[in-house]
Amino acid sequence: MKRKTLTQYLVEQQRNGNAVTAELRLLLETVARACKGIGHAVTKGALGGVLGSLESENVQGEVQKKLDVLSNEILLEANEWGGNLMAMASEEMETIHRIPNEYPKGGYLLLFDPLDGSSNIDVNVSIGTIFSVLRAPEAASTREVEEADFLQPGTQQVAAGYAVYGPQSMLVLTVGNGVVGFTLDREMGTWVLTTESMTIPQDTSEFAINMSNMRHWEGPVKRYIDDCLAGETGPLAKNYNMRWIASMVADVHRIMTRGGIFMYPRDERPSGKKGKLRLMYEANPMSFIVEQAGGAATDGEQRILDAQPNALHQRIGVVMGSKNEVERVSRYHMED
Ligand code: AHG
Ligand code: MN
Ligand code: MN
Ligand code: MN
Repeated sequence: MKRKTLTQYLVEQQRNGNAVTAELRLLLETVARACKGIGHAVTKGALGGVLGSLESENVQGEVQKKLDVLSNEILLEANEWGGNLMAMASEEMETIHRIPNEYPKGGYLLLFDPLDGSSNIDVNVSIGTIFSVLRAPEAASTREVEEADFLQPGTQQVAAGYAVYGPQSMLVLTVGNGVVGFTLDREMGTWVLTTESMTIPQDTSEFAINMSNMRHWEGPVKRYIDDCLAGETGPLAKNYNMRWIASMVADVHRIMTRGGIFMYPRDERPSGKKGKLRLMYEANPMSFIVEQAGGAATDGEQRILDAQPNALHQRIGVVMGSKNEVERVSRYHMED
């Protein structure tokens, strides 16, 4: 049976009157091609001189890995000339990157975490790229695009996706019409449709959280995890399993594939008050994908996609995955 390619999927979405315009299709094909380039560099590892850290720090206060910067450059170069964008924003750039004047501009804004899971780069564990597409506000066509134009709630996204560079390279994408999964055919260099409709089971007994932060968690999270650890004789009456890969894309991809709940909650540290993960290019795109797959995504209490951003790099608590489990965590917060 001949499998569809990413282009065929996007042309079909364009034809059946979804939000996919020709311009958005071209943008997503360009991003997917850039992810192939990033995956190629990742696969080379030491042979490509891409491992290790740089002296530089990013706006997050993190020491940048070579691959953080290289992935960012690959996405900038691939998307600058295409004519579909007004500007781009990235975890690795302090402020927005406007399309240079010598290139035509388009109607979209692209945000990305070019390399997610950087702490796993040098130890050969799955890492990825996360991206989100917003429409540029009308007003931005008569003036210079500003950072404030990016500060739209996650409900405004027209597309979101991630690439996970693991044993297979996969691209998972939503344009608001469910979630599809592509596997990279390395011989042909094409993203081939391998999952027509990714859906997250409503229930789970597998949680993903960094347990070393337990002493910092707020009460409801502590109580929820304690109840999970109490097993089948505890209040939740089932034995839970735990996973933590420390690459959001890999943990969320597992949940997209077999269910689960992913948690990076805000905590009581000054640095953790708002959570660790970034709203605009980690939490929002992943929440759009998870919701489109029948899951749920909150900051512990409120729907992430409804959050009104007020800063490009703002952080947020994240609880996402199997709908019934995410709602259970919200109930622990309500009891507080
Ligand atoms: P990034 O590498 O893009 O900075 O993101 C890392 C994030 C996320 O991928 C992961 O879930 C989380 O950091 C892991 O945090 P800990 O190392 O604190 O577990
Ligand atoms: Mn990340
Ligand atoms: Mn990153
Ligand atoms: Mn980082």
